[in-house]
Amino acid sequence: MYKLNIPNKQHFLTEYWQKKPLVIRKAFSDFVDPLDEHELAGLAQEEEVDSRIISKKQGKWSNSPGPFSDFTPYCIGDWSLLVQSVDHYIPDAKMLLDSFDFIPNWRVDDLMVSYSEANGGVGPHVDQYDVFIIQGRGSRRWQVGANKHHDSIQPAKNLKQITGFDPIIDEVLEPGDLIYIPPGFPHNGVAITSCLNYSVGFRAPTQRELLDGFVDYAQAKNLFNLRYSDPDLTLRDSRFEIKPSEIEKLKNMFNQMINSVHFDDFIATYFTETKDVDMYEADLTENYSLNEIVNLLDSGVSFERKLDTKVIQQKVRLNNKYQMVTWINQHRINVESEHESMLFKMLNSSVLDKQTKINYADGLIFNQILAKLVNAGGWFPDI
Ligand code: SIN
Ligand code: CO
Repeated sequence: MYKLNIPNKQHFLTEYWQKKPLVIRKAFSDFVDPLDEHELAGLAQEEEVDSRIISKKQGKWSNSPGPFSDFTPYCIGDWSLLVQSVDHYIPDAKMLLDSFDFIPNWRVDDLMVSYSEANGGVGPHVDQYDVFIIQGRGSRRWQVGANKHHDSIQPAKNLKQITGFDPIIDEVLEPGDLIYIPPGFPHNGVAITSCLNYSVGFRAPTQRELLDGFVDYAQAKNLFNLRYSDPDLTLRDSRFEIKPSEIEKLKNMFNQMINSVHFDDFIATYFTETKDVDMYEADLTENYSLNEIVNLLDSGVSFERKLDTKVIQQKVRLNNKYQMVTWINQHRINVESEHESMLFKMLNSSVLDKQTKINYADGLIFNQILAKLVNAGGWFPDI
């Protein structure tokens, strides 16, 4: 279990989040690495895992994408191995990510883990995302500069760096220390000894990414087929003119789409998309009857939360009262409002079984909610 020591989280959000970088010493006391470099290398051999090795030898940078069957040609000079979404594969890595639960779940992206040899790093660069970088085993020097323009360079394929910056932070991090870097602040981490680093990354879509997602959603669901019409058309001086009122009408067609309930549903599906579930084939998940769920529970089977399960909740107005709607891996589930706190507790449980059921006041409702969690593809029976 990981406990994040940020004494006043609201103070952190007000003063630092998206505003200023910050080093937090001993953010995790007695930090234990959730994996070692050998397990990390094992992940980097897998086809479905996104990994790369960045190295610098005699001033020449290389960026080699995984998967790797042989590491020797790439681990040359000063190097780092970086692996994305380690939280999807290693339960303890997921627990480390979950310790940042003071940031809304929909903003969380993934846990990227890097292993660097002494002097290794990815070079000075700027990211567009907020990141908390936790120091694991070993130590690393971190420099962070001010958020202003810096000249970009690309010293190797798909490796974006900047020419340099004046540091406003220059510190060596030890195990359990953490550095928070908001988007736009240039930074550079250079390993002092061989070391492991854990980057908790956040997502923030651009307008165009949202638009792309919305178009895909509309197409898959065959939405928004209302066509422009102008029965009130009158003669005009120039046949080439498009009138402001006509542009306004077209804008309104857009506004209607965005203000429709479909947009809220799109947002929910967009932010609960997982690697395993195709956005629009989510309905194909295996369906368990309530009886089957109860039988499995009674026979001692435990239900585990998939490591990449994504959950978001939206408060919606239904029949004149607010109700919490829950989305799990692009599936919508509803429970009665009096069972919302039970659902919330279950959503926070990585394992649900006969034993944990005892902690819940109403066994029948527990079974029903569990069936919904399983049929939404978020939890699975560990048979
Ligand atoms: C790392 O090398 O572990 C972090 C890379 C970064 O600065 O984003
Ligand atoms: Co970075």
